[in-house]
Amino acid sequence: MWQQTKSVVSIIIILAGAIALIIGFGISGTHSITVTTLTSAGNIGEDGILSCTFEPDIKLSDVVIQWLKEGVIGLVHKFKEGRDDLSDQNEMFRGRTAVFAEQVRVGNASLRLKNVQLIDAGTYKCHIVTSKGTGNANLEYKTGAFSIPEMDVDYNASSDSFRCEAPRWFPQPTVVWTSQVDQKTNLSEVSNTSFELDSENVTMKVVSVLYNITINNTYSCMIENNIAKATGDIRVTDSQIKRRSHLELLDSKASLCVSSFFAISWVLLSLSSYLT
Ligand SMILES: *[C@@H]1O[C@H](CO)[C@@H](O)[C@H](O)[C@H]1NC(C)=O
Ligand SMILES: *[C@@H]1O[C@H](CO)[C@@H](O)[C@H](O)[C@H]1NC(C)=O
Ligand SMILES: *[C@@H]1O[C@H](CO)[C@@H](O)[C@H](O)[C@H]1NC(C)=O
Ligand SMILES: *[C@@H]1O[C@H](CO)[C@@H](O)[C@H](O)[C@H]1NC(C)=O
Ligand SMILES: *[C@@H]1O[C@H](CO)[C@@H](O)[C@H](O)[C@H]1NC(C)=O
Ligand SMILES: *[C@@H]1O[C@H](CO)[C@@H](O)[C@H](O)[C@H]1NC(C)=O
Ligand SMILES: *[C@@H]1O[C@H](CO)[C@@H](O)[C@H](O)[C@H]1NC(C)=O
Repeated sequence: MWQQTKSVVSIIIILAGAIALIIGFGISGTHSITVTTLTSAGNIGEDGILSCTFEPDIKLSDVVIQWLKEGVIGLVHKFKEGRDDLSDQNEMFRGRTAVFAEQVRVGNASLRLKNVQLIDAGTYKCHIVTSKGTGNANLEYKTGAFSIPEMDVDYNASSDSFRCEAPRWFPQPTVVWTSQVDQKTNLSEVSNTSFELDSENVTMKVVSVLYNITINNTYSCMIENNIAKATGDIRVTDSQIKRRSHLELLDSKASLCVSSFFAISWVLLSLSSYLT
């Protein structure tokens, strides 16, 4: 009687163990892998990159990359078994997307987006499946227009002035002039900024003129919106004009999704102690 009970119990334990093993193998397929995205900005009318990386997998055929966008039905892009699978791609992304196929092997799942438009802004998800597991990370994509300013001198009989001109900006930026010699003076009273819409009524040309300039002084024109910041410097000396411009994107920060392994192994361990 006691012997029988014991064998029934051990059968139950063995069955439970077998079930746990099956579940365990099933769940091990959902191990998390680290996927990292980078907040980035797209310049309207140009090509953009939505940056995403993952723990590489040498078995390229097992890698599935899916790009999705919040509020958009279907996919932005899918890459599977070493090539694109665009059967479920949303219309608005047709012919505009590509992954860097030769870079997938090293864990680069970045998406190239052609001819960026204002409406491409939003939350994207980079979803990765490899033989090691699954992972995803979101990416906030901002779109707008930004361009580097050109600095020039407007010669005039009465007085010279400086001109800071950048062809494409959106949303409308702020423009601030500063003087290196006299940093406290408010130059907004001796400058004039205009914004001229382009033919498509989206981006605008920025022109700012600074009057009342002095020789041997460096002036800076700073153009800034929520996406980018550009600075143009100009300095006139007795013999020459020096110019320098640069552009930086604001707020390009990495958003990291840390891996978390599913704790199935301890279940198997505690069961195997019964079995032995
Ligand atoms: C991914 O590959 C593309 C194309 O070579 C490159 O421009 C991009 O910087 C790469 N991204 C990362 C995160 O390495
Ligand atoms: C020269 O100055 C006058 C008066 O300030 C102004 O009307 C004119 O537009 C200026 N010319 C140039 C080329 O900036
Ligand atoms: C400069 O003057 C303008 C108006 O003349 C004002 O709107 C702006 O806030 C001032 N800026 C600073 C830094 O004082
Ligand atoms: C700025 O430009 C506008 C239009 O060209 C003009 O009406 C205004 O008087 C100018 N302001 C200054 C301070 O030059
Ligand atoms: C741009 O705006 C102007 C005035 O609001 C309008 O007449 C013109 O048709 C618009 N152009 C486009 C391409 O939307
Ligand atoms: C232009 O500069 C001179 C000398 O630097 C100053 O006296 C004058 O007030 C300035 N004009 C304006 C409109 O700020
Ligand atoms: C500008 O600087 C040069 C050399 O540093 C000097 O020779 C010249 O006199 C200066 N000009 C003025 C108007 O201050």
